[in-house]
Amino acid sequence: MRLDYFIANATALSRRDAKKAISAGRVQVDEKACRKAGTPVSPESLITLEGELLSLPVERYLMLHKPSGVISATTDSQQPTALDLLPTDLRRGLHIAGRLDADTTGLLLRTTDGQWSHRITSPRVSCPKTYRVTLSETIDAGAIALLEQGVLLRDEPTPTKPASVCRLDERLIDLTISEGRYHQIKRMLAAVGNHVEGLHRWQIGAIVLDPELAPGQYRELTAEEARSVA
Ligand code: URA
Repeated sequence: MRLDYFIANATALSRRDAKKAISAGRVQVDEKACRKAGTPVSPESLITLEGELLSLPVERYLMLHKPSGVISATTDSQQPTALDLLPTDLRRGLHIAGRLDADTTGLLLRTTDGQWSHRITSPRVSCPKTYRVTLSETIDAGAIALLEQGVLLRDEPTPTKPASVCRLDERLIDLTISEGRYHQIKRMLAAVGNHVEGLHRWQIGAIVLDPELAPGQYRELTAEEARSVA
């Protein structure tokens, strides 16, 4: 893990303030001042902030940039799973907070904290999730209004909850929903006569997929990010 993530994870500092503390020489690694935010540290490193020994919280929270072709489920003998992207020593006790289809890319959260993931996935809490959706057909104002009001999905009795749509281009939208029904985005677009060609989740609540993470990469959430799921 990078030193700035460690500091942001082990203290109340944001990542930006963690970087400032490091460059100001307030952080020591193995008893030597370390001014480089990207320095790799391990669980064995002795890390202090102004002389105070730091440790990571017991519960663990990770964000992962899920590539296409990888399934979210914890075990699957046929296909690679998102868990395979993590080093073996990190995998213990982690579960997913909100699955993605195999062909969907983007933000996947994994944690050891069951109450925390419940706040993300529970239909009662309504945690918003934002997807960038590439469409096969042009989307018009009528279809956007329907998606925002709620649409009836095939074989389901109740319409989807109100959603919000930001039209980025003729065939590109950001769609924010606060439910997690089966294949919900693809079925919502099918319900307004369109078809999803590409799907990428980039935000859950206030947690945004780190643009520094390439597909297949992961990092620990900062304490600030983990706390944002209240
Ligand atoms: N909706 C979908 O259709 N697929 C996903 O992976 C997530 C939301």
